[in-house]
Amino acid sequence: MPKLNIAVFVSGRGSNLDSIFGQIKTGRLNASIALVISNRSDAPALDLARSQGAKAIHLAPNQFDDEPAYQETLLNLLQTENIDLVVLAGYLKKIPAAVVNQYKHKMINIHPALLPAFGGKGLYGRYVHEAVLEFGAKISGATVHFVDTEYDTGPPIVQECVPVLDDDTPESLAKRILEVEHRILPQAIEYFCNNQLDVKGRRVYIKKK
Ligand code: GRF
Repeated sequence: MPKLNIAVFVSGRGSNLDSIFGQIKTGRLNASIALVISNRSDAPALDLARSQGAKAIHLAPNQFDDEPAYQETLLNLLQTENIDLVVLAGYLKKIPAAVVNQYKHKMINIHPALLPAFGGKGLYGRYVHEAVLEFGAKISGATVHFVDTEYDTGPPIVQECVPVLDDDTPESLAKRILEVEHRILPQAIEYFCNNQLDVKGRRVYIKKK
């Protein structure tokens, strides 16, 4: 089977990006990270990408006169690199609808909660865990889902629960959930690489290998 060409979008430290590099190295993922894009020129994840020999690009809407110009550049970039799968790993900007539609069921995101709970605009990073603790939820977790044109609303692919402990802080909860993220994101990518994802409406079925 040919290697899958992956583009990863990042905005922060890149620990999820690192876990994907790791699973490629073990041979578990028959893929290659052709491109890492960040809206932040100083994102540590871009340095991580460079250290792994991947093309690392700073690309942000504010570099363009208007949305269509940004959208066209982004689409051309993905097409030039023959990208098969787009992975949003801690990416904090909305992907233009035209790009989402071009990569329907070929663009996935990792969110540090059990969607649809504690998702949507403004709920990212520590804000998610603060909201979970504020609500008094007993269970949180992580979700990998297909990206659609709204924040965190696409069909879930993999979810895993994480208990909320009485003495949890946003940091302690985030740390345990991040460990789950580092497992389920590569798992979802493996399913995609193996063509095991069967999407019917909002339901994503994992076909046997
Ligand atoms: C992760 O918690 C992810 O769920 C959220 O942003 C964080 C990214 O962390 N979207 P990293 O940059 O992958 O370490």
